[in-house]
Amino acid sequence: MQSPYEGRLTRLRAREPEEEPLLYQWFNDPEVTEFLSIRYPLSHQQERDFLARVNAISFDHASFSIVTKDDGRLIGGCGFERTSPENRTAILGIAIGDKTCWNGGYGTDAMRTLCRFGFEHMNLHRIELDVYAGNERAQRVYEKVGFRVEGRRRDALFKYGRYHDIIVMGLLEGELVLDG
Ligand SMILES: CC(C)(COP(=O)(O)OP(=O)(O)OC[C@H]1O[C@@H](n2cnc3c(N)ncnc32)[C@H](O)[C@@H]1OP(=O)(O)O)[C@@H](O)C(=O)NCCC(=O)NCCS
Repeated sequence: MQSPYEGRLTRLRAREPEEEPLLYQWFNDPEVTEFLSIRYPLSHQQERDFLARVNAISFDHASFSIVTKDDGRLIGGCGFERTSPENRTAILGIAIGDKTCWNGGYGTDAMRTLCRFGFEHMNLHRIELDVYAGNERAQRVYEKVGFRVEGRRRDALFKYGRYHDIIVMGLLEGELVLDG
């Protein structure tokens, strides 16, 4: 039986309070947050509050740490928010905070595991996400795992002194691409 939490390179696990220093470091790094909604500096207390809020996983708070499968090193986080049992939908978010892991296949692998978990264990029908127009690496990852572009919110984001479009992507059950 395939583990619901494991991919080829990564494993998803519950968030732990001890992760706070790494989260603080990652999410105060402008390179990591360039394409995230984070705009203001984050305090240690905000990271502790976040972890306290998400550490009990449930349908409503399905938030995971991403660790490497070979040595269990924490490299990022991902999860679902605004889950709706009536519609069987959720909004997906992901960040590989460890920059040394970018372009190493970890994000694609974690996305596949998270979406598989969403469809096979949370009984979701539709997974949706927002991606900033300039975030080509993320768009490539989402397309690889089967997400389709569904729309574009023009000038929806103001950052770095100008407006940017936000691209809306969606994945329905049965559309997840697990290899390639
Ligand atoms: C976006 C993110 C999750 C992707 O994870 P990753 O582990 O770096 O991505 P992977 O290595 O699995 O795949 C990257 C793919 O994008 C491609 N890519 C990289 N830079 C690219 C660019 N500028 N334009 C187009 N494609 C690009 C890579 O070639 C690779 O595709 P391939 O396998 O077909 O060669 C990760 O980089 C991240 O968390 N970044 C910071 C936060 C963020 O942007 N989160 C997403 C918010 S929507």
